[in-house]
Amino acid sequence: MRVLGIETSCDETGVAVYDDEEGLIGHQLYSQIELHSEYGGVVPELASRDHVRKLIPLIDDLLEQTNSKGLIDGIAYTSGPGLMGALMVGACAGRALAYAWGCPAIGVHHMEGHLLAPLLEDDAPEFPFVALLVSGGHTQLVEVKALGQYVLLGESLDDAAGEAFDKAAKMLDLDYPGGPNVAKLALSGDLERFTFPRPMCDRPGLDFSFSGLKTHTLVCVRKHAQENGLPDDQTCADIAAAFQEAVADTLVIKCRRALQQTGLKTLVIAGGVSANTRLRSKLTEALKKIQSRVFYARHEFCTDNGAMIAYAGCQRLLAGQTESLEVSVRARWPLDSLPPLEASEASGEQTA
Ligand code: KG4
Ligand code: ZN
Repeated sequence: MRVLGIETSCDETGVAVYDDEEGLIGHQLYSQIELHSEYGGVVPELASRDHVRKLIPLIDDLLEQTNSKGLIDGIAYTSGPGLMGALMVGACAGRALAYAWGCPAIGVHHMEGHLLAPLLEDDAPEFPFVALLVSGGHTQLVEVKALGQYVLLGESLDDAAGEAFDKAAKMLDLDYPGGPNVAKLALSGDLERFTFPRPMCDRPGLDFSFSGLKTHTLVCVRKHAQENGLPDDQTCADIAAAFQEAVADTLVIKCRRALQQTGLKTLVIAGGVSANTRLRSKLTEALKKIQSRVFYARHEFCTDNGAMIAYAGCQRLLAGQTESLEVSVRARWPLDSLPPLEASEASGEQTA
């Protein structure tokens, strides 16, 4: 089955063609970073309008490039969670194309897409595993028993890890999107200079809280400004390094705890923050000590992309899941409310 995947939940227009026999055939991404950077964050209305402009030419190019015209057997589009207007663009396009081409279509959960992205790699993890989902809107630990069988183990009570990175970046006067810029600056930072807290690690459980870390960063910047004037480049780098280290350590501690709690030996990290090299190396090191292993997607598939949606949608379409003609999208959508694959195979029921 050859599936066209469409991702428009936020500020990236991503499209891909995935074939269950041949693997990933091709993908294209248009990032709106430049459009939103002057506002310091995503402007939802601008995002929707840009998806409208870019999506169809991108699909056209991709079908041409992959020789897939007339060969698409199914369409998968992100139907939540995300920005409503942005989601509507992808969902309407996906639905309309499916109607025109006479093929089934399915709405995919954005975080399920992220979670499954590492399965696109040659060295893919096997079920069951624990997944750490760390993006701009989510920080969740999930026990993944099988495809579609998700048990939420813990999540952030306030800011998501990526959101904290983005906010810390603003305090350090770095451009949007903040995460990669904080990571870049942290490379020249001195880890000995500032020590930031590791929130909620001294109590049991698998929930997170990153808003205190954000406040700690602000206090650190202000204190420095009061005592020594505006932070110089080296001070900003030292703060970035201390912040990143605190987020990474906190995530590592909770991941180890989740593996111990579930008795599993495999961890998958997914979502934009899983591109963070410091987090990756700390996890690799920590998990080696407990005879466990971490898997992640290639860099370009950590952040939003069409390939993960094509892959996730293909698995559900192959299991017989489809949707009615109605276009429905959701700003919020709990991952653990998704139907397992076996159940729908038996009943032929629709998903979202
Ligand atoms: O998964 P994603 O592309 O979009 C959402 O679904 O939210 O994640 C975007 C988030 C942003 O907060 C961005 O700053 C963060 O991921 N991010 C990073 C890195 N690359 C992206 N955070 C830390 N280090 C990175 N290298
Ligand atoms: Zn995402």
